[in-house]
Amino acid sequence: MHVLQSLILGIPVVVAGSPMLIERSPTSPFALFAYGDGIGGAPVFTDGESAYIGRATRLNDSEAAQVQFIGGTDNSLLASPNTTAGNAPTWSNLTFMVPDMTSSSHQVGFANSTISGGGSASEFVFYGDFLLHKNTDGDINGLWYAVPSDEDRIWTLNWNSTDDDTEEKVLVTLKATPPSRTMDKNI
Ligand SMILES: *[C@@H]1O[C@H](CO)[C@@H](O)[C@H](O)[C@H]1NC(C)=O
Ligand SMILES: *[C@@H]1O[C@H](CO)[C@@H](O)[C@H](O)[C@H]1NC(C)=O
Ligand SMILES: *[C@@H]1O[C@H](CO)[C@@H](O)[C@H](O)[C@H]1NC(C)=O
Ligand SMILES: *[C@@H]1O[C@H](CO)[C@@H](O)[C@H](O)[C@H]1NC(C)=O
Ligand SMILES: *[C@@H]1O[C@H](CO)[C@@H](O)[C@H](O)[C@H]1NC(C)=O
Repeated sequence: MHVLQSLILGIPVVVAGSPMLIERSPTSPFALFAYGDGIGGAPVFTDGESAYIGRATRLNDSEAAQVQFIGGTDNSLLASPNTTAGNAPTWSNLTFMVPDMTSSSHQVGFANSTISGGGSASEFVFYGDFLLHKNTDGDINGLWYAVPSDEDRIWTLNWNSTDDDTEEKVLVTLKATPPSRTMDKNI
């Protein structure tokens, strides 16, 4: 099985030391896009707390904006609003986080600098262009999945679908590359 498929399905594989695995140092800001069945490169956005995928402007919320990420210490990802893409919300410099291994929560979100526990806010690594997370055991996973929200073409971004019985959930990959024009209509 392809390494990436294994990572997405949560099957442990040895990728440490792989030349493809890169830790991104702070460089220029980048956006993240979700790809999966019926999701053709929808951007990651937030209202300042939860992570969503889709077009921020579809949500009637002045705090909702597409995220531009930059690498922080310990491979954390710091999030600022991309105001070119829409709203100019009040939040900035939030820390991206996935639930930790023992958490029953599936929610991916953003926090202020002081993390109040219950989540992993560091060790995000890229396998090529795919965003993965390294947990405290040193395992690298890409367990992203999307769940439709009440709004048309807006999904919540979640982590680790084990024990989540939501029927409409869709496994997705997160990539730093935007969709091509032809896929764009699918967003
Ligand atoms: C910000 O949004 C604009 C307009 O959608 C887009 O062209 C640009 O690539 C985005 N920048 C980042 C860093 O995501
Ligand atoms: C958008 O939000 C504003 C303020 O909360 C509200 O007045 C308006 O009715 C909402 N519009 C839609 C289409 O939901
Ligand atoms: C995923 O969730 C299961 C069940 O809650 C848990 O046993 C496992 O450790 C989690 N995996 C990761 C990588 O968080
Ligand atoms: C961040 O801090 C501000 C000011 O204390 C607060 O209003 C906001 O809700 C916080 N955001 C998050 C995501 O915790
Ligand atoms: C952004 O947040 C990071 C991590 O909390 C912090 O180290 C950095 O100083 C902050 N930058 C700004 C401009 O506030």
